[in-house]
Amino acid sequence: MTNIFDQLAQFPIAPFLTGPTALERLDRLSDHLGVDLWIKRDDLTGLGGGGNKIRQLQYYLGAAQAEGADTVLITGAVQSNYVRSAAAAAAKCGMKAVLQLEDRVPGKGAIYRTSGNVLLGQLLGAEHIHYPEGEDEAGADQALRDHADALRAQGRVPYVIPLGLKNKPLGALGYMDAAREALVQKGDFEVVVIPSGSGATHMGFLAGLRALGSQVPVHGICVRRDAEAQTARLQEVADRLAALLGAEGWITRADIQVYDGALAPGYGRVGPKTRDAIRLMAEQEGLFLDPVYSGKCFAGLVDLVQNGSIASGARVLFVHTGGFPALFAYQDDVLNL
Ligand SMILES: Cc1ncc(COP(=O)(O)O)c(C=O)c1O
Repeated sequence: MTNIFDQLAQFPIAPFLTGPTALERLDRLSDHLGVDLWIKRDDLTGLGGGGNKIRQLQYYLGAAQAEGADTVLITGAVQSNYVRSAAAAAAKCGMKAVLQLEDRVPGKGAIYRTSGNVLLGQLLGAEHIHYPEGEDEAGADQALRDHADALRAQGRVPYVIPLGLKNKPLGALGYMDAAREALVQKGDFEVVVIPSGSGATHMGFLAGLRALGSQVPVHGICVRRDAEAQTARLQEVADRLAALLGAEGWITRADIQVYDGALAPGYGRVGPKTRDAIRLMAEQEGLFLDPVYSGKCFAGLVDLVQNGSIASGARVLFVHTGGFPALFAYQDDVLNL
């Protein structure tokens, strides 16, 4: 099945990663949880504060460069790591970035709107625009396209990184690469735990493993939608990925496993499980998770170990997707003030 990977060569990339990210054992947490726990350090992908989105942006910026773009437009939550990463990627490629920030999390105060990723986006020289809805992917994408049209009329060459499902899932290709990289580093893990938001990271990693013949179960931890909605979304991402690569049926419905028990109280909101998980990782291993994605994901991992879904002693790979700048924007929630 390696021929599926051969298809990736047709997509241009902007090479932001300078080598594989580390894959290391978490000795103290292994003892604490009673599993053989390993971590893929995709929080350290290098550019602009790192994180999973850098791998995905290698493909989007590669496409933007191939089209001769001078401006990248992207939409996300106010504290989106993705838009911050895109601003860094654009800077690295000598392009302008337009970051459209959506109101996805109600009731947040001034620090949420100014610190963390928003601050970094400003330092990266990005232009910030606002979109008033938080659950309107099609509308947010359309607003970006309208903005791109206005730039085009001024003689600029914009490239829109779309959010909605009805687009080519280029970002998932970055996580097929990550799966291959992880298998080369350590081929004997028995379970993978990874965040599941837009689905590009989760589905890309799963697709990469299956394309290389690995049948390791991959638990996607829901960070935005419940298990039913996320499963439907992942199926759509899988279908689009298959179409993009011209290969059908190598990911099946049975491969898609999601867990939403750590999602409460909802996207971008910090519950006690996430708070505890962030503390546990920091105090046991000296590593920082984030309040929206990797903290929830690790909380999900702890649940799956405690409820027996992950067997005692299992060799587990936790994919750390980064996001720590958001800690500063969520300080009251993280500290429970
Ligand atoms: C730190 C972090 N982890 C995980 C995710 C989820 O990745 P995906 O949207 O590919 O599912 C995101 C999304 O922005 C993120 O910023």
